[in-house]
Amino acid sequence: MSDLASRFRASWDEIAPVGRDADSGGYLRYALTAPELRLREWFRAQAERRGMPVSTDGNGNLFAWWGDQNGNPPGDAGQGGAAGGGAVLTGSHLDSVPHGGAYDGPLGIVSAFLAVDELRAAGADPVRPVVVAAFVEEEGARFGVPCLGSRLLTGEIDPDRAAGLRDAAGVSFADALGARPAGADPALSDRFATFVELHVEQGRALVDAGAPVGVASAIWPHGRWRFELRGEGNHAGTTRMADRRDPMLTFAFTVLAANKEARLRGAHATVGRVAVEPNATNAVPSTVTCWLDARAAAPETLRELVEAVHAKAAERARRDGTELTVTPESATPPVAFDAGLTGRLAELLAAPVLPTGAGHDAGVLAARLPTAMLFVRNPTGVSHSPAESATDDDCAAGVVALARVLEELACR
Ligand code: GLV
Ligand code: MN
Ligand code: MN
Repeated sequence: MSDLASRFRASWDEIAPVGRDADSGGYLRYALTAPELRLREWFRAQAERRGMPVSTDGNGNLFAWWGDQNGNPPGDAGQGGAAGGGAVLTGSHLDSVPHGGAYDGPLGIVSAFLAVDELRAAGADPVRPVVVAAFVEEEGARFGVPCLGSRLLTGEIDPDRAAGLRDAAGVSFADALGARPAGADPALSDRFATFVELHVEQGRALVDAGAPVGVASAIWPHGRWRFELRGEGNHAGTTRMADRRDPMLTFAFTVLAANKEARLRGAHATVGRVAVEPNATNAVPSTVTCWLDARAAAPETLRELVEAVHAKAAERARRDGTELTVTPESATPPVAFDAGLTGRLAELLAAPVLPTGAGHDAGVLAARLPTAMLFVRNPTGVSHSPAESATDDDCAAGVVALARVLEELACR
C-alpha cells in the first residue's frame, strides 16, 4: 500500500465506526443527529489540526479555510485577496441515507483534507484560499429535501420553508439547527470562485473504463413526489373483498406503473419509501403514503413520466374507491457542469468524462459558480447501500487527482 493510501486508511478509520449499524453494516448518519454531529466535530478537529479556521453560514454548512475569508491566500493576510479573488471550494457531505454506504459524502471531505496535506507537502503556493466544505442534509433523508444546505446557501429554497421542514419525529429543521436558517449568501460568487466535489461513483462506468478517477459532465433532472393514498381502515377478517377501499391496492398498482412508465422512456423511477397506517397485519390499511423518486435525461421526459404515473394512480384510485393527493417535495433541474472547467480537468487528469443520475450539492452550486465533480471508482457500482465500496488505492488516486485540480485552480 502506498504511503498516501495508508494515510487515507488512517483518516478513514477515524470515522468508520461513527453511525454504523452493526446488523446491516450500513450507516445511519442523518443530518444534525448524534452521529452526524460527531462527524462535524471530527471535521472541526481535522481543520484545527491543519490550522484551518472553520466558518459557518447560518444554514448548517461548515467551511474550513486554508487562507482567510477576505480572499487572502494562505500566508498572505493583508493583501486583500487581490491576487486571486474568490476561494476554491471543495468538500461534500457527512450525512447518509438510511443504511447507506460509507463513501457517499465523507469520501469528498476526507479526500479534501488529504489533498490540502499533499499540496502543503509539495510546497504549493496558493494565490487564493482553498476551502473544505461539509454541506448539511445532502441526502434529504431526515427533512425530505435533498441538498438542503446548498439550496439554502444559493437561495434555491426559502429559509422559512426550510425552517419548517419536519423529520419523522416532528422535529423541525430550525429546531435541529438551533436557529432559523440564514438563507442565501449574496456574496457567494465573490467568496468562492469555483467548486469541485469529489464523490464515489454510483455506477460502474469507471470499472468499465478501467480508470480510477473520472470527471462528471452532467446530472439528470430529478425530483421527489409524495403520493398519499387514503381509503378505509377495516377488519381483515370480516370486511368482504367487494366492500373494501384498500389504499394498498392503489399503492401496489402505482409502484408497478412507475416502473413501467420509466422503462418506456429510458428513465428511472423508484418507490423506496412507504408508510402504512395503521400498519397492522390484520387490518385493511386506512392510508398508504409513498414517495416517488423520478429521474430522466431530459426535463420533458421527467415531466411526462410523473404525469403518466400520476394519471395511472388516479385512475386506479377511482377503481379502488380511494383518494389520492400528490405533492411535489423537491425538484432539481438538469445540470451541465461548466464545460470549460470539466474539459480542463479531464485533460489535466487524462480522465474519462461521464454523466450521472445522482444528485449532488455540486449540482446546486453549479447554478451560481463554475463547478465540476470528480468520481472515484466503485468496484461494486452499488451506492445508497452498505455494498458501496472503493479501494484505498483508488481513494489515494482520488486524493492525488483532487490535489492536482486544487493546484491548477488555486495556485495559478
Ligand atoms: C443523492 O444521493 C441522490 O441522488 O438522491
Ligand atoms: Mn447519496
Ligand atoms: Mn453524495
